Amino acid sequence: MPFPQDRLRRLRASAGFRRMVRETRLSVDNLIAPFFVMEGRDVRQPIVSMPGQGRVSVDHLIKDAGEVQAVGVPAILLFGIPARKDELGSEAWAPDGIVPRAVRAVKDRVPDLMVITDVCVDEYTTHGHCGIVKDGQVMNDETLACLQKMALTHARAGADMVAPSDMMDGRVGAIRQALDGQGFSHVPILSYAAKFASCLYAPFREAADSSPKFGDRQSYQMDPANLREALREIELDIQEGADIVMIKPALPYLDVIHAARQAFDRPIAAYQVSGEYSMIKAAAQLGWLDGRRTMLETLLAIHRAGADLILTYFAKEAAEALHE
Ligand code: PBG
Repeated sequence: MPFPQDRLRRLRASAGFRRMVRETRLSVDNLIAPFFVMEGRDVRQPIVSMPGQGRVSVDHLIKDAGEVQAVGVPAILLFGIPARKDELGSEAWAPDGIVPRAVRAVKDRVPDLMVITDVCVDEYTTHGHCGIVKDGQVMNDETLACLQKMALTHARAGADMVAPSDMMDGRVGAIRQALDGQGFSHVPILSYAAKFASCLYAPFREAADSSPKFGDRQSYQMDPANLREALREIELDIQEGADIVMIKPALPYLDVIHAARQAFDRPIAAYQVSGEYSMIKAAAQLGWLDGRRTMLETLLAIHRAGADLILTYFAKEAAEALHE
């Protein structure tokens, strides 16, 4: 029955009605907090383009991890910044490397917090690419062995889940096989399944010092124009054994999140990346946007589009806001 009988404003007229008919709710259970961990003791280096975020040594990471757990965030994602980079990124699978040490420390001190590790060599290579480089090309199949070693190293250190972010073909299957073969069939894989070649990773690359020294990542990360191809990427990762599939970035790719939600029955994650965080922080600092409300609205939109889980640098702030 159309207007005047039907009036949608009736159920918007009071906070009570709005609360009763709200379709989507953001919960702290949906949030995952990324952290950058580096060598040293008592180190906290602010990341200029990501206000409120820093690179921290393991002792500070333990503190930060305890704080996010205290506000109810169930999981963290770790990125390692090694002391030493080389052509292959071999620090990435050093058993005593920065990430394995961080994982052991957090699991020891904050045992109920789930620890997810990013599996990709770009922070560990001198050239900054996400794989082995030969004659200026990023080599797919050669890189798979590195990712297997890296994922195994993290699993051995006690990581609850591994998250390959490199976008090599076949890496989910390769990692699954390596984990299963070494007694880690219980460790799930969160794959960065549809990762676009986005300009929004720029602040992260400052944080991780991982900008490619030549070329760009368009030969492995996806063309931002492609939705159908994103669904193929996700489907292949599921076939290879991904337990959770991720879309990244988040807000400019809500259509991809929504289409994936319709098409697949796996848990879906979305990564509100560094540039998304920086834009909101910058506008808030200028007084152009209400930072808190923008944070909550964007996270809600990502969740409404179909993301069960959201990786976000706002995790702690959002959790605090949700408790208010
Ligand atoms: C690669 C990786 C990147 C991000 C997560 N994993 C950077 C890249 O692909 O250049 C970006 C995350 C962000 O921007 O917040 N290891």
